[in-house]
Amino acid sequence: MLAAGRTPAFSGPTYLHTTGIIMVLKSIDTLHRTKTGKISDKWASYLPYYDELFGPLRHKAISMLEIGVQNGGSLETWSKFFGAGERFIGCDIDPKCGTLHYDDPRVRVVVGDANAATTFQKITSISPKFDIVIDDGSHVSIDVLRSFVSYFQLLNPGGVYVAEDTHCLYLDQYGGGLLNEFSAYAFFKRLIDIVNFQFWRSDVSINNYLRTFFDLRSTPSFILEGWVESIEFKNSIITITKSLKPGHDKLGERITTGSVAQVDNWDGKLPS
Ligand SMILES: C[S@@+](CC[C@H](N)C(=O)[O-])C[C@H]1O[C@@H](n2cnc3c(N)ncnc32)[C@H](O)[C@@H]1O
Repeated sequence: MLAAGRTPAFSGPTYLHTTGIIMVLKSIDTLHRTKTGKISDKWASYLPYYDELFGPLRHKAISMLEIGVQNGGSLETWSKFFGAGERFIGCDIDPKCGTLHYDDPRVRVVVGDANAATTFQKITSISPKFDIVIDDGSHVSIDVLRSFVSYFQLLNPGGVYVAEDTHCLYLDQYGGGLLNEFSAYAFFKRLIDIVNFQFWRSDVSINNYLRTFFDLRSTPSFILEGWVESIEFKNSIITITKSLKPGHDKLGERITTGSVAQVDNWDGKLPS
């Protein structure tokens, strides 16, 4: 906290509180590293990445779901970071998570297997839509895939889905493996091609292309409809963003500006 008018001895975003005091907005990195109370468990590289990814949403009335709560600390970090956030729902299969208490009424914990229909129902009865979903649950390949199929569809347009600790998908004991063509990692790699479906010059349908993962008629409709905008692979994190609108033809028109074609006039199609 700093009196308005004084030169701040810090960098980073600030805001002017109604009391006239300049408040420092703490980064996720800082919030996580300095937190007390309930434990939260994150790898160092996630923290600045989350600041970059979630910074633009910071002042919005977002709803967030985190699969995998454990000691509950991360829900405190999220709710502090997103001051204007509306809902922070944590889901954990461990019944002991039912004892977690939060003073902040925006935070709720649902106990159950994230991939069970009853749990899905409990979560959607609290919040039918989300802006951010983080899967920090079992990290087992089939769970990662199922959760993505269940919860990506709940994202609002422009929403963000994050699968954490995807290094586990390289390990046999998590149902993964580098060359495992059935792993969730292999699935997310295939999604890259769906993003570029516009350029397939092939008779292969999306249903057929994803047949390893879904029966022919059960490819999630959000994939068929072109709701996957982008996929980012970082060390141990995969981020999938939802488009603002459906459709596969998103490249848009070619926009060529300028008037001098000194090197290549495209076979006379450009003015020389
Ligand atoms: C890595 S911990 C979560 C850590 C927490 N997000 C944090 O940042 O401190 C993983 C948690 O996922 C929970 N979990 C495992 N399988 C699950 C499932 N199918 N549904 C929901 N939670 C699950 C475990 O009980 C465990 O508490």
